[in-house]
Amino acid sequence: MSGPTEERGAAEFLLLIAPSANRVYADAAPSLMAAEIRCLADAFVDGEIEVEPVRVADVEYVRVRAGDLGGSALRALSNASGVHAVYERLGDLLRPVRAERLDRYPSDLLTIQKYPGKTNEQLTRLLLNVTAAATTRPERLLDGTLAVLDPMCGRGTTLNLALTYGLDVTGVDVDKHDLEAYETFLKTWMRQHRLKHTVSTGSIRTGGEHRGRRMDVEVAPTKEDFKAGRSQHLTYLGTDTTRLDGLVRGASVDVVVTDTPYGVQHGSHGDRIARNPLELLESALPGWVRVLRTGGAVGMSYNRHVAAPEQLADLLERHGLTVVGDPADDRFRHRVDASIDRDVVVARKG
Ligand SMILES: C[S@@+](CC[C@H](N)C(=O)[O-])C[C@H]1O[C@@H](n2cnc3c(N)ncnc32)[C@H](O)[C@@H]1O
Repeated sequence: MSGPTEERGAAEFLLLIAPSANRVYADAAPSLMAAEIRCLADAFVDGEIEVEPVRVADVEYVRVRAGDLGGSALRALSNASGVHAVYERLGDLLRPVRAERLDRYPSDLLTIQKYPGKTNEQLTRLLLNVTAAATTRPERLLDGTLAVLDPMCGRGTTLNLALTYGLDVTGVDVDKHDLEAYETFLKTWMRQHRLKHTVSTGSIRTGGEHRGRRMDVEVAPTKEDFKAGRSQHLTYLGTDTTRLDGLVRGASVDVVVTDTPYGVQHGSHGDRIARNPLELLESALPGWVRVLRTGGAVGMSYNRHVAAPEQLADLLERHGLTVVGDPADDRFRHRVDASIDRDVVVARKG
């Protein structure tokens, strides 16, 4: 859908981004954010659009030229990772436009936890946004009905983002310390913020076999919402992601988003349990595809040092998914450190 906008009164919007706050992306920040905004624009903006990183008076923006940012378009773009403010450009002047953020809880839900191997919150937002944009029902991201699964959720960055967005979410991780740490964090956080909630925990058993622990949470932003049943549901399954049979219903999730193991050691937790990430994905994908609805999408960040984009694309296609875009085009590629050359791949079911 992107392409040159004709000079027929196309409006020009500047999305202020703050690369200084995004040390993790380093020099890739403006182009990476422009790529994310392009995905959202393709899904939410009608008609011709043009998206590119620009500098105005030495400040970085992503410029969006479009006939109209009405309907849900402005709302979708306002929630792109790294967007701090939105302006409409009127000649030499910038008119502030109210950005409509989905975020319904205080931002410390995403920022307060610090631990080795934590996925950067901004990358998590990018991943969820571009994966939702690749589904056949992207509007579900904005209306609160997108069902999210992070099948290797660690201590819950994706879970916290989904809660922030008002969505229901399921997380899976085989490292029992991660579930314990997340449970302690979330209970404390919900209590401190006086959110009406319930938490239940128990063991996971199928066919008499103990397969780990689980936690089920119901929470709402206000007591009234909770009473009226406008609450959110979060489930954390502390078990092996390659065996989701009997635990997650088929065709029940819209997006599977995950930051895959990097094949490097992160202190005492994180990747230590993973075998070769490609082998792990090979055994996990049949289950992930089964729980995905037709028209849903899988989005993964991964380390190019452990898998080439073509290898991942081939793997996803062999499991019946259609890769969105050119996996080797580098638009989301960025260097995290000497051992992590990170990229993102997205694929759709059906
Ligand atoms: C890169 S970390 C994800 C970090 C997470 N996004 C966060 O911010 O906390 C990858 C995760 O994959 C998990 N993992 C590895 N093998 C797994 C398996 N077979 N089943 C479930 N989780 C697994 C690891 O325990 C680790 O937490």
